[in-house]
Amino acid sequence: MEKTIAVLPGDGIGPEVTEAAVKVLKSIAMRYGHTFHWKFAAIGGAAVDEFGSPLPKETVEACEASDAILLGAVGGPKWDNNPAEQRPEKGLLNIRKHFDLFANVRPVKAVPALLGSSPLKEEIAREVDMVIVRELTGGLYFGEPKRHNENSAVDTLVYTRAEIERIVDQAFEMARSRRGKLASVDKANVLESSKLWRKVVEERKAGYPDVEVEHMLVDSAAMKLITNPRAFDVVVTENMFGDILSDEASVITGSLGMLPSASIRSDGFGLYEPVHGSAPDIAGQNKANPSAAILSAAMMLRQSFGMESEASSIEDAVMSVLEDGYCTGDLSACGNKVISTERFVEKVIEELEREFVSE
Ligand code: NAD
Ligand code: IPM
Ligand code: MN
Repeated sequence: MEKTIAVLPGDGIGPEVTEAAVKVLKSIAMRYGHTFHWKFAAIGGAAVDEFGSPLPKETVEACEASDAILLGAVGGPKWDNNPAEQRPEKGLLNIRKHFDLFANVRPVKAVPALLGSSPLKEEIAREVDMVIVRELTGGLYFGEPKRHNENSAVDTLVYTRAEIERIVDQAFEMARSRRGKLASVDKANVLESSKLWRKVVEERKAGYPDVEVEHMLVDSAAMKLITNPRAFDVVVTENMFGDILSDEASVITGSLGMLPSASIRSDGFGLYEPVHGSAPDIAGQNKANPSAAILSAAMMLRQSFGMESEASSIEDAVMSVLEDGYCTGDLSACGNKVISTERFVEKVIEELEREFVSE
């Protein structure tokens, strides 16, 4: 197959982990006989510095001319005091909105080799397998009015019925293809937007009689994610709750550096990015865990290109390297086999070669 991939490295560890994912994709292309064309473009702080905007029009055009987008991370202290429109994060929010990427799919799966790296007891973290479906283009992030002055500030949490319906349907479909359980997380005891959210979930569930639905308040859901994470299959929630709960859930896997994500719209077009940020504290040190970015690339192959066996090969290769005891320093139980970002990628590629030879 021939595909064009827009690559937006961004800031901090973004370029390091994106380079890792691109290397892995090149290895896959060679082995499976695909041709990937690359369109590198600027986003975030790097784009503010070069083009004066966190999402330049050249970048939007590159993405529009591509079959999928692979993104690193944006942000950093250098731009933290910029006005809202000149902040790196605005570039990410704008690209999500521009492409209507309303469904952010964040799988959280315990890795047997990493159980010792989780702060949770092994018997709690073991066999966790859930997907957080986060609404990505509405809620507090985008609601108007949004402003502040010296004495007051306002953000607006608004959701329309249509926005809720489409994300809830996406989550029901996903639950149906998995273990048939859906937890809808809201704050319906306080928030008006959550009352509508809950009502829509109740209405839509008639179309999915095979899915068991539970409504949960976000505060207790945050607690249950840690005390009994195996109870979750698919979690659907609004934008900001999903942002917070997914970083929380990442500790089950041992590190935020393990979580990939897909941000998709109805026709399958998607942006793929790690859940983590630009990690300024370790940027430029060849220390970042590239797993989340590499696994995001695997999600891209599966979901946007229909390349199931290529995606599985990547996932198996990452797991094999971890099972051999090699990992980056964020995974505390890795012991004396801590390796650099670059070395980790080389190991993943060696595994891919081994898988291919043994087929
Ligand atoms: P962060 O996710 O960048 O880092 C949190 C902690 O996790 C840090 O200690 C970091 O070193 C560690 N970490 C994250 N990813 C890692 C990896 N792959 N390997 C090893 N360790 C990793 O969150 P933060 O520090 O709160 O935010 C830093 C910047 O990133 C901010 O500007 C923020 O706005 C931005 N951010 C961007 C995104 C994104 O681009 N999608 C997501 C979250 C935060
Ligand atoms: C994420 C990030 C972003 C978000 C920020 C950087 C805007 O935290 O992708 O999880 O809050 O959505
Ligand atoms: Mn986040």
